Amino acid sequence: MNATHIYLVGFMGAGKTSVGQRLAQLLGWTFIDLDTGIAEREGVSIREIFNRRGEPYFRDVERAELAKVSRRENAVVALGGGAFCTDENQSIVKSTGISVWLDVPMELLQARCAGDVKRPLFTTREEMESLYRRRLPHYQKADIHIDIGNLTVDAAAEEIRQRLLHDKVLRA
Ligand code: S3P
Repeated sequence: MNATHIYLVGFMGAGKTSVGQRLAQLLGWTFIDLDTGIAEREGVSIREIFNRRGEPYFRDVERAELAKVSRRENAVVALGGGAFCTDENQSIVKSTGISVWLDVPMELLQARCAGDVKRPLFTTREEMESLYRRRLPHYQKADIHIDIGNLTVDAAAEEIRQRLLHDKVLRA
């Protein structure tokens, strides 16, 4: 198989953007951060979109942006933490590429995101745990599952590349 998109999925703080940038470098592909595209499209930050228009509006724009990037070629795409959690978005991802779940333990995600003002949905520990539990069944539907644990960005990107080669998603 010769995939043209690698979609990185996982919870906030999983490292989708930093690992995605490195993976794109390793593959010589374009890197696309879905949230960056959304913020550019709207002309304001993700937090502002949530504050001014609310989450349902954000999800509409997120879906439109995903449909747009799915038409690009040879791209590593970092999805926001909620982007892989609807049937419609999953079917765009499934029909245009391979999804890779960056699985990071909840304690580590908490430690990384605590106090982060850029993430409107990152609130209390209890709410995060409940959101994480609701999202897990979606993340588990990704094609490839990578246990990220405490891997460095470079090691995580290399691990994904090896899996893609092993699974013949990429040609050596
Ligand atoms: C969200 C995660 C964020 C961003 C938005 C909503 C979520 O992306 O898309 O704040 O629903 O989990 P990151 O996963 O990159 O933080």
